[in-house]
Amino acid sequence: MSIGVFDSGVGGLTVHRALVERLPAADFIYLADQANAPYGGRPGEEIVDLTRAGCERLFDAGADLVVLACNTASAIALRRLQQTWLPDYRKAKGKPLNVLGIIVPTIEAATGLPWEHEAERRGEKVEKLDILGVFSTQGTTNSRVYEIEIDKRRQDVAVFSEACPNLVPLIEGDAGVVELAKEIEERVAALTRRIGRAPDRAILGCTHYEIVADLFRAALPAGTPLIHQPVATADALERYLARHPELNPGTSGVRRFLTTGKPGPQNALVESFWGGPLSFEAA
Ligand code: DGL
Repeated sequence: MSIGVFDSGVGGLTVHRALVERLPAADFIYLADQANAPYGGRPGEEIVDLTRAGCERLFDAGADLVVLACNTASAIALRRLQQTWLPDYRKAKGKPLNVLGIIVPTIEAATGLPWEHEAERRGEKVEKLDILGVFSTQGTTNSRVYEIEIDKRRQDVAVFSEACPNLVPLIEGDAGVVELAKEIEERVAALTRRIGRAPDRAILGCTHYEIVADLFRAALPAGTPLIHQPVATADALERYLARHPELNPGTSGVRRFLTTGKPGPQNALVESFWGGPLSFEAA
């Protein structure tokens, strides 16, 4: 048995690394749907279908639990799959399989509140003191998931999202640091113009962006706190496994990396993030 980690591409490796650090003995299978990346500009129905296919592939490979290390899939597909597909699939397989997303842990980290907490609305206008910038794909931005879910819990936080549609293709395509930095500076400047000032905190709301977190740090005012999805997801997974002893994450330290795209080594940008060679098997 193992934990499956799913992303449209290499971005979920940032989450995988944090999960492995937290649970070093557990077995992990990573699946990158690189044949269909990027997801960010795809219609919702396609993202639902691709995410379901990715989960099935990971369950077939022996995962009992899949972590969707992809904001776009979590924002657009997760609730639908949990409501309409997973219950029957679980019954057919006769196992307590489950799929978790990345947005719930991120919102818990951003609000400092458990997901179950919903602010009491008394009707009076709450002054927004804390401006939170979210950088994400077009799909995640359009879903407004961060705006909606944070507003339910913390009415003193104003959320402004900025879509960065060019960034995933640049990262998957091994763009150079100059091109990446220019793109990121433009998106940070656009968000700053829209808010009227720089955000107080920021979420890198696409797992790919964590690979270039240093460039976001350089483009934002010095010391702007970043909410890190990999750590937030590792915290949430650890708590989830403690509550669900029936889910066995394995004990052999297995690491498998699958791709629906071209198997073999990953690009130089990814290997430099990873700190060494990384080869993917055909899914
Ligand atoms: N890395 C993914 C995310 O967190 C998806 C990026 C994409 O394929 O557009 O949203």
